[in-house]
Amino acid sequence: RPPRLSTKPSEWEAQARRVVPKPNFYYVFGSASSCDTHTANVEAFKRYRLRPHMLVNATRRDLSAKLFEGTQYEMKLRHPILAGPVGVQEIMHKDAEEAVARACEEVGVPMVLSSAATRTIEQVAEANGNGERWYQLYWPRPQAEDLTASVLRRAKAAGYKVLVVTLDTFMLAWRPHDLDGAYLPFIWGQGCQIGLSDPAFNRMYEEMQKNDTRTRMEKLREAWDMANRPGTPFGALKVLRYAPLIRKARAVMEAMNSGTFREWEHIEVLKELWDGPIVLKGIQTVEDAHRAIDAGVQGILVSNHGGRQVDGAIASLDALAEIGADARVKSSGLTLLFDGGIRTGSDVMKAIALGAKAVFVARPYMYGLAIAGQEGVRHVFKCLLADTDNMMANAGKRALTELSREDLRVLQVPAK
Ligand code: FNR
Repeated sequence: RPPRLSTKPSEWEAQARRVVPKPNFYYVFGSASSCDTHTANVEAFKRYRLRPHMLVNATRRDLSAKLFEGTQYEMKLRHPILAGPVGVQEIMHKDAEEAVARACEEVGVPMVLSSAATRTIEQVAEANGNGERWYQLYWPRPQAEDLTASVLRRAKAAGYKVLVVTLDTFMLAWRPHDLDGAYLPFIWGQGCQIGLSDPAFNRMYEEMQKNDTRTRMEKLREAWDMANRPGTPFGALKVLRYAPLIRKARAVMEAMNSGTFREWEHIEVLKELWDGPIVLKGIQTVEDAHRAIDAGVQGILVSNHGGRQVDGAIASLDALAEIGADARVKSSGLTLLFDGGIRTGSDVMKAIALGAKAVFVARPYMYGLAIAGQEGVRHVFKCLLADTDNMMANAGKRALTELSREDLRVLQVPAK
C-alpha cells in the first residue's frame, strides 16, 4: 500500500528519506559545500512577511500568470507554479520523468524537462500529452554545436514551448554529500538521454572512438578501476559488461558539463537555433539582468540552483528583491521567474510580490515522486496550488497582479 501522503513539505522530505537508498536521497537533498546557500534560500522567506488586508471580496480569484507580455511570445499560465528541471529522476522512482510528466498534465502545471533526464525528449512529451512543457538546456560546449542544434530541433518538434538555458553549471560544484557517498548518477549512464538518444551525439561519439588510440586492455583497465571505487553501485563484472555504456555516458558528461564555460556573446547562437522564448536560468545580480536585457532574451530565472553551485551566495529571494526593484529591469519588459526554497503558498506570494511572474519548485516534487510516483507528484502540486489560492484569499488578494512590495514587511533578522 502506498504511504499516506502528508500535507507538510518537511514530512515529504522525511518520507522520501525513508524510501530511497541513501546516496540517491542525498543527491537530491544535498547542496554545494556547507549547504549554506540552500539554508539561506529557505530562511529568507522568514524575513519577508506578508501584510494581509481584510474586508476584500476575494470570493473569486484568478491565479493566472502572463509571461513575455508585449512580445510575440506572450503566454498565459493557469497558475504561477512550474515543475523546475531536475535531472536523473529515475534515481527516486522507476517511473521517473514520465510519472512527473503525467502528473503535471493532470494538475495543469507546466513541466520543465531537464537535459539530464533518464527519459528521452520524445518519451516525456508523449507522457505529458496536452500538458504545457518547456525544455531546459545544459548547453554543450562550443565544439559540439551540432548536438545543441539537434537537441533543440527535437525539443521544438516535440512541443516544448520555452527554452530555459542553465548558466550556472558548466562545472559541477563541490558537493560533499555526493563525494562522501562516492555517488554521481551520470557516471553510470543515468541522466544521459540528451546524448545517448541523439543522432548528432552518436556521430560525435563515433568520431571520438576513431580517434581513441588506447588499446582494448587500457580501456578495460579504466572500467576495472571504476568498478573498484568505493560506493560503486554495480559489481565489477557488471561494470565490465556496461563499460561501453559508461564510456558513452562519460562522453555525454564531457560534451555538456566539461568545465568549458560559455560567454554572453554565445547567446546569439542560441537565438539562431531556437525559434521561441528564451529564459536564462541562474541570474543572481542586477548587472547580469542588464546583460540579459542587452542579449535580447525574453526572461531570466533568478536562481542559485537550489544552493547546489556557488556556496555562500546570497539567498535567491534577496537576489530577486534587488533585481525586481531595478528601474531598468522593470521598464525593459524582461519576464522575471524565480526559484530556490519555495515550499508554501505564502512563499509563492512573496516571490510574486518581489517581481516574479511565476516560480519553479524542485525538491518537493522529487520527494513526492520518491514516496508515491505519479500520485506523489500530483499530491505535492495540488497542495502547493491549493495553499497558494487559499493564502491569496485570506490575505485579501484576487489576482497575482494585485501583489506588490507594499504587501511585504522586511525584517532585518530571521524570525525565530
Ligand atoms: C536540480 N536543478 C537542476 N537545474 C537545471 O537547470 N537542470 C537540472 O538538471 C537540474 N537538476 C537538479 C537535480 C536536483 C536533484 C536538484 C535538487 C536540483 C536545480 C533546480 O532546477 C532548481 O534550480 C533548484 O533546485 C530550486 O530550488 P528548490 O526548489 O529545490 O529549493
